[in-house]
Amino acid sequence: MSKGAFVMATENRVTIESLDQEGRGVAHLDGKVIFIEGALTGETVSYSSYRKKPSFELAQVTQIHKPASMRVQPKCKYFGVCGGCSMQHLDANAQVAVKQRILEDSLWHIGKVKAETILPPIYGQTWGYRERARISVRHVIKKGKTLVGFHEKRSSFVADMQSCEILTPKIAALIPLLAELVGSLSIRDKLPQIEVAVGEFVDALVLRVMEPPTSEDEAALRAFADKHEIQFWLQSGGPDTFVPFHPLNAPQLSYSLPEFGITMPFAPSEFTQVNSALNRVMISRAMRLLDPQPGERIADFFCGLGNFTLPIARSGAQVLGIEGSAALVARARQNAAFNGLAGNAKFAAMNLFEMTEAAFAQLGSFDKLLIDPPRDGAMDLVKSLGGENTPHRIVYVSCNPATLARDAQVLVQVHGYTLKAAGVMNMFPHTSHVESIALFEKMRKT
Ligand SMILES: C[S@@+](CC[C@H](N)C(=O)[O-])C[C@H]1O[C@@H](n2cnc3c(N)ncnc32)[C@H](O)[C@@H]1O
Repeated sequence: MSKGAFVMATENRVTIESLDQEGRGVAHLDGKVIFIEGALTGETVSYSSYRKKPSFELAQVTQIHKPASMRVQPKCKYFGVCGGCSMQHLDANAQVAVKQRILEDSLWHIGKVKAETILPPIYGQTWGYRERARISVRHVIKKGKTLVGFHEKRSSFVADMQSCEILTPKIAALIPLLAELVGSLSIRDKLPQIEVAVGEFVDALVLRVMEPPTSEDEAALRAFADKHEIQFWLQSGGPDTFVPFHPLNAPQLSYSLPEFGITMPFAPSEFTQVNSALNRVMISRAMRLLDPQPGERIADFFCGLGNFTLPIARSGAQVLGIEGSAALVARARQNAAFNGLAGNAKFAAMNLFEMTEAAFAQLGSFDKLLIDPPRDGAMDLVKSLGGENTPHRIVYVSCNPATLARDAQVLVQVHGYTLKAAGVMNMFPHTSHVESIALFEKMRKT
């Protein structure tokens, strides 16, 4: 009998060697890689596989024989069922260390680059931080009730949850009450989603409605909004169909960046960072690394509603924010004017996944760049930086270490930049999302 067959016949006991990008324990058995949810580095565990392929298996831990010292009791009672968080069983500081290792490993293994300096990680409160979320709603006839929550792990079912530890406390406390409210509506089968947008002075909940609410439904929604001091919006179709419903005199959604004297109004359909406290720290760090100066010309690529553009403009530099969404560009222009920065913050809409060297040259020359792309990264943009007059400093904010590493390779090996520094920012505690920041520099041509 082979060793593997013997192990299979007993109970698939393995020792976890590391954690992967999704927070799963990684082990090897009989030449196969086993990715085990709920297992931590150093632990000896048994597992049950839910997907078997010739070279790897995906599994769930069934028993922990030797727990890691960094293992903690998850705070949320739905951990393991709800698909929202995957790292609550790991001490919060150790989560940051894991994310840092994922960043360094990605830079090295994918991008073949190493940062000269690893920046100290940025982190903040670990619970109740999440201000943006898309929550699912399902009326389940078999259960005789309406569920409001995140999807269950690896499932399209909505988790039967009464609370959430990462949403802001006010929104978390509303989960069971929203379930009751939706369950009482005539359109409970036609309301599949609630989008949450927490602002500084108002919390907006956008109800996706496939049918208009009846007048009784409207009365129930109004009473709920008044009682719980939230603002309901209705969304009948795509993102351009968001309309405020009640109360109509609620304050405008906004967040502020006190260090830069900036207030950012936004609509619930528009992208904003989910963790406003960490966003402030992230912007401070980005500005320290970028060090914008009066007289410089700077571009902010993937600028959204101007989250980095306006702090750059506040320094006195001339800044051009470029973004794919025309609605966000319009919002960014309004926000620049609102903050008295329209003179040195300009904006343009452009698909940055189709950037070319010629198109980049047409934008004029820049001293510095800030790049904050979506998960797919900024490959076409970084490829286009090969011409004359390329910027001498780039601050790259990333939500995906794999694409950051891939783009870093182009910047370093093709365009001759040096990766001066990189570090993680724990924007999404208890989830496997790795947000990071990197600084690239290149000698100016004299
Ligand atoms: C990670 S968000 C950053 C937004 C902004 N920097 C902020 O901090 O709020 C990425 C932004 O890229 C924009 N985007 C996505 N795909 C794009 C594309 N192909 N071209 C230009 N912008 C795009 C999104 O609309 C979004 O605003």
